[in-house]
Amino acid sequence: MPSTRTLLGAALALSVALSVGAAVAKPDGTSTMPSKRPPDYEVGKKLWTQSCWQCHGATGKGDGPAAAALVGGVPSLEGKIKGGKFDALVDVIQQGRGRMPAYSEDIDEHDSRRILQYLKDTLEGKKPPPPQNEKDKADAEGGEGQ
Ligand code: HEC
Repeated sequence: MPSTRTLLGAALALSVALSVGAAVAKPDGTSTMPSKRPPDYEVGKKLWTQSCWQCHGATGKGDGPAAAALVGGVPSLEGKIKGGKFDALVDVIQQGRGRMPAYSEDIDEHDSRRILQYLKDTLEGKKPPPPQNEKDKADAEGGEGQ
């Protein structure tokens, strides 16, 4: 018959082992380690703020500071994004169209979708809106600059 102390020690050792193990992989195969990849929302926000906002405007209405200089202006993305069908929009982001630059060298299809989902969420009020001015923009980029 093991002493109470031995049993307590074993239970303690087991719970330590379990909590250490849980940090790496749970029995169902999922990990509780923090992912190094930022959430989709953050990726979409960062890319939008870096590359798109200037022409398309904070919420995609086509009223960015660079839009005025573009012959023909910039169309609003609002209706199409709210529609939630992203395939055709992803193609435009990848291949460009008219005065819209092609981004396939810098932004892949997944990230293009992250940008669109981010905009959709902000348009629907599920997430805070994108930066509205240069200062917010700098804050959103974490002061890294371009
Ligand atoms: C230099 C200004 C400029 C920048 C920067 C820019 N766009 Fe555009 N974008 C446009 C213009 C102009 C159009 C309209 C193109 C056309 O059909 O003539 C457009 C069209 C689009 C469309 C298609 C809209 C539709 O009605 O089908 C999407 C989606 C889009 N842009 C997303 C983005 C994203 C995402 C970024 C950043 C990665 C971005 N744009 C950066 C100017 C810009």
